[in-house]
Amino acid sequence: MTRATARAHPNIALVKYWGKRDEAQMLPAAGSMSMTLDAFATTTTVEVDGTLTEDAFSLGGAEQTGVALDRTTRFLDVVRSLAGDGRRARVRSHNEAPTAAGLASSASGFAALALAAAAAYGLDLDERALSRLARRGSGSATRSVIPGYAVWHAGTDDASSYAEGIEAPDLRLVIVTVDGSPKSVSSRRAMRLTAATSPFYEAWVSSTEQSLTEMVRACADGDVPRIGALTESHALRMHAVIATSTPPVRYLAPRSIEVFDAAVRLREAGVTAWATADAGPNVCVLTTPAEAEAVAAAVAEHGEVRIVGPGPGAHLLAEHLPEP
Ligand code: PMV
Repeated sequence: MTRATARAHPNIALVKYWGKRDEAQMLPAAGSMSMTLDAFATTTTVEVDGTLTEDAFSLGGAEQTGVALDRTTRFLDVVRSLAGDGRRARVRSHNEAPTAAGLASSASGFAALALAAAAAYGLDLDERALSRLARRGSGSATRSVIPGYAVWHAGTDDASSYAEGIEAPDLRLVIVTVDGSPKSVSSRRAMRLTAATSPFYEAWVSSTEQSLTEMVRACADGDVPRIGALTESHALRMHAVIATSTPPVRYLAPRSIEVFDAAVRLREAGVTAWATADAGPNVCVLTTPAEAEAVAAAVAEHGEVRIVGPGPGAHLLAEHLPEP
């Protein structure tokens, strides 16, 4: 039996990924950019075991079946074909964030699984190859392999679609959990719907490439107000294009909008505060390290707040998760 354990963190996109050009290879329609967080890690142990006839997957101590197990098995199939090793595996995973609450636990989950499985199956992958592998599990996982700030190049095939680190100013995100329950429509399903039915989808894709180019420049220039403005407008564009699907999908709740409004008021008062939200109602407010406490205090009435900053990429641990 060979065993490996890895840890990875979720990321929050400042330029969002929404829509695929190739479902099988998980190639995105456009590039994206994110901050890998220093909180809410997933830790995953993979044990390759020749005596198993099927993979097993437990999450937070609960044995998984159905969709969750299928996704894990399909991902392990990719690893097995790369390694030329057909043995099954036992996967144990522990999330420090509520699963499916819009904090992209699929990103930390598949980044940790990619590294732990690659190591357990004896693959020696560099950062780019690991990012490509994580992509096969979940698009946003492509970026969680990378520490700090990452750009995911859309690419045109498996080899050219990966994330890499970029330099950016030290920033903080104030996460406002307005609702901790699982999201109503999975991002996978809603992305399909948007691409297939929104009359604005093509404009979304082309404007995302434009936003990404501008974001990379703003990061290189250390231009925080520009990074913030691009972050907020891109998030609003994503939620707008999602809302124009048929049937429409809406992730933002009234309380989420209140946080976006609070960010506007903070800016009017001279504070650095720009809002963004992924496929769920929780909102992150982008600010500077010096202003993070004041921003957190200002938005605390809208939900539970937590200040996070840039965190590490996926990495191996010497200690394994205990058997249940
Ligand atoms: O890869 P998924 O299924 O976790 O999709 C992520 C989609 C967003 O979080 C909304 C945007 C993003 O770029 O992370």
